[in-house]
Amino acid sequence: MAYETIQVEPLTPRIGAEISGVDLSQPLGNQTFQEIHDALMDHLVVFFRDQEMTIEQHKDFGRLFGELHIHPGSPPPHGHPEVLVIHADENSKYVAGGNWHSDVTCDEEPPMGSVLHIHEIPEPGGDTLFASMYAAYDALSDTMKAFLDPLTAIHDGEHVYRGRYADRGVDDTGKDYPNAEHPVIRTHPVTGRKGIFVNTAFTTRIKQVTRRESDALMAYLCEHATRPEFQCRFHWRPNSVAFWDNRCVQHHAMWDYYPQVRSGLRVTIKGDRPF
Ligand code: SIN
Repeated sequence: MAYETIQVEPLTPRIGAEISGVDLSQPLGNQTFQEIHDALMDHLVVFFRDQEMTIEQHKDFGRLFGELHIHPGSPPPHGHPEVLVIHADENSKYVAGGNWHSDVTCDEEPPMGSVLHIHEIPEPGGDTLFASMYAAYDALSDTMKAFLDPLTAIHDGEHVYRGRYADRGVDDTGKDYPNAEHPVIRTHPVTGRKGIFVNTAFTTRIKQVTRRESDALMAYLCEHATRPEFQCRFHWRPNSVAFWDNRCVQHHAMWDYYPQVRSGLRVTIKGDRPF
């Protein structure tokens, strides 16, 4: 792929690229927008360094790619319902995204992508790992692909979000968290490539098999999907940005820095119903 307005440096052959030559706080020309979009389609997750962005500029950048998503549970910063706070310190009991997942797959229409801007980092530590669900799918045998192709799975937010934000003042008594049924193998609406679409955080059950079979299949698929050869690992610096395609990527925020502080903001872009 030839880029004219940005530079794109792949991190691995399968996933991840660092983009330079662009200031995300400024309005982007059509060609730059298109090239960032193309780089995301080619590399699944793209990274930018040294981006000073206000919360409004962050939202404006996300909105270029679609309407912004509102998280079903996490309390937003005042006046910014479309913004997710990512923060851990010495009082944290867990971190956002501390196991392999795609974002909010319990939604009927899970997000197409997320843009995370990290402001404060521990040093060292706090990397994020990303895995290509295309590469994971491509590595399956044809027999396994044919078996998985017609299956669907239940994704539930209840066990993920219930009570989770109590320490930030959220009382979710009486609130219903989303759940949804999605294909186990998803076709990407832009690239047409297939990828595994179950994850350890949200997926509770593969529907067309027994509970024991579902548990065994989920254990296999989740282990397989996150093998090191399908991954890249990003080391943050203050004002780094990661933009991942939630339709073909899983990620894992590494919490190896307790009790240090890691802090940032994420905007999440609405997606469509998986098929
Ligand atoms: C997330 O969006 O799941 C958190 C990712 C991170 O903090 O690196």
